[in-house]
Amino acid sequence: MVISGGGFGDFRSLRPARGVEMIFVNFKTYQQGTGAKASKLAEICEKVSKKTGETVILVAQASDIFRLSRAVSLPVWAQDVDEINYGSHTGWILPEAIKDSGAKGAILNHSEKRRSPEAVGKIVRRLKDLNLKSLLCCQSIDEGQKLVKFQPDFLAYEPAELIGSCEVSVASAKPETIRNFVLKFSRLPVVVGAGIHSPEDVKLSLRLGAKGILVATDVVLARNPQKELAELAQAFG
Ligand code: G3P
Repeated sequence: MVISGGGFGDFRSLRPARGVEMIFVNFKTYQQGTGAKASKLAEICEKVSKKTGETVILVAQASDIFRLSRAVSLPVWAQDVDEINYGSHTGWILPEAIKDSGAKGAILNHSEKRRSPEAVGKIVRRLKDLNLKSLLCCQSIDEGQKLVKFQPDFLAYEPAELIGSCEVSVASAKPETIRNFVLKFSRLPVVVGAGIHSPEDVKLSLRLGAKGILVATDVVLARNPQKELAELAQAFG
């Protein structure tokens, strides 16, 4: 696919920024990413991470954090968490509980689990107090502007309409927005997600200044997740 350079010239001539580089694999609530199957998938991710030397972070359901933390040495993050403290909060997810289960961080405000900026701020504070990392998902630069003040560890750009597509990715459809997002929030590592499915998606995202990717469908639902993840991971090389 030919990608327009827009106001930034030819994106292919940009060099990827070196530094923290990572792959967040979001297990969502896919059957292949739940329970015993989640452990199998986590082992596959660990194999790829060891082989390629790339950092792979497993983004798991709260109920699987303990299991995955036992099964592999990769960092496990929660898909969401609440701002509550110990007490009477039936059904909520306590930050202390995910930490105790082995989580190293949490993503927040995913398109499938939106939060108000106010709630995001409160939760990020709770995570910081517990030395847990945070990644805030944004659907746009405007949303990033509302959330960056909470000083998360990562910001993610994920256009909701491309999530789940294995044909059109954020990299191929929105290169200029990725570049603008990265430039706007240059103090934070930016990762990108939605429809990422090829080594070209990874290479272009890195050239545009992203430090990593968030991926689900291409890996979790793949017939051969090891092959798919390895292809993406090798593109970081
Ligand atoms: O959190 C990652 C996710 O929303 C991207 O999903 O299926 O487009 O890779 P997918």
